[in-house]
Amino acid sequence: MNTSLPDSTEADSPIGIFDSGIGGLTVLKEVRRDLPLENIVYFGDTARVPYGTKSKETITKFSIDNIHFLKNFNVKMVIVACNTASSLGLEAMKKNFSLPIVGVIEPGARAALATTRNGRVGVIGTKATIGSGAYETWLKQLDPKIKVYSQACPLFVPLVEEGWVEGDIVEDVARAYLESLKSFDIDTLILGCTHYPLLTQVIGKIMGDKVRLVNSAEETSKEAKRLLLEMHLLNEGAKKSPQIRFYVSDEPEPFRTLGERFLGQPIHSVAKVGDHFETARV
Ligand code: DGL
Repeated sequence: MNTSLPDSTEADSPIGIFDSGIGGLTVLKEVRRDLPLENIVYFGDTARVPYGTKSKETITKFSIDNIHFLKNFNVKMVIVACNTASSLGLEAMKKNFSLPIVGVIEPGARAALATTRNGRVGVIGTKATIGSGAYETWLKQLDPKIKVYSQACPLFVPLVEEGWVEGDIVEDVARAYLESLKSFDIDTLILGCTHYPLLTQVIGKIMGDKVRLVNSAEETSKEAKRLLLEMHLLNEGAKKSPQIRFYVSDEPEPFRTLGERFLGQPIHSVAKVGDHFETARV
């Protein structure tokens, strides 16, 4: 990876993670599991969520703003937890910044290829992610023979945000989206959106136990760990317990309460950043 970091970057500099909002906490959860000693700054762009219905230009601009904000913390790496931002803005982000930036698409594609036995992979995500063809591009680049079947599931994000992760209504919606994928005889399905790991049970029930569900977040945190090792920036000898800081661009309280469900642990404090957060001093 062709990257450079300021001399002030140390192993105990934080990892920056951003998402369009709350969903990226499913990625933070995996990062905490694989890299428990790392300091982390999480930014959720809750004032401008959802990204999944927006244009490439807008998503790219927002993503670049978010990295400018995270750079205020002297982050040693940025993880783009958002599938939509990773699908449409990663190239531009890498062009604009010299620090290491890890998206979720390539790791998710690799995980799916390691999982499939019959070479038939399904992908679900937001309209923007599916429209970009990013997962398909990566899957085919890594294995040109792979067959990819994609389906946008735009109602999944609002359902999860409302806490509807089980029951008849969510099952009916999921069935409507997933029935056609089932007919393609896929054996692997990429959950190509931050929110979908919370629907694992429902999606698994509809797809049946012959279809393995791939959570891109798991492979992404492993990729982040590999890179930190390579750069000798793993915070191995940490003396202090790691600090996890949360920032959002809109009201902190809804993020804090729903966030605990995504993260599966208490969130004690969330700070709201101002309107021009990308240039904010923290
Ligand atoms: N975080 C987004 C993703 O993973 C889902 C929410 C949104 O549309 O912004 O694609």
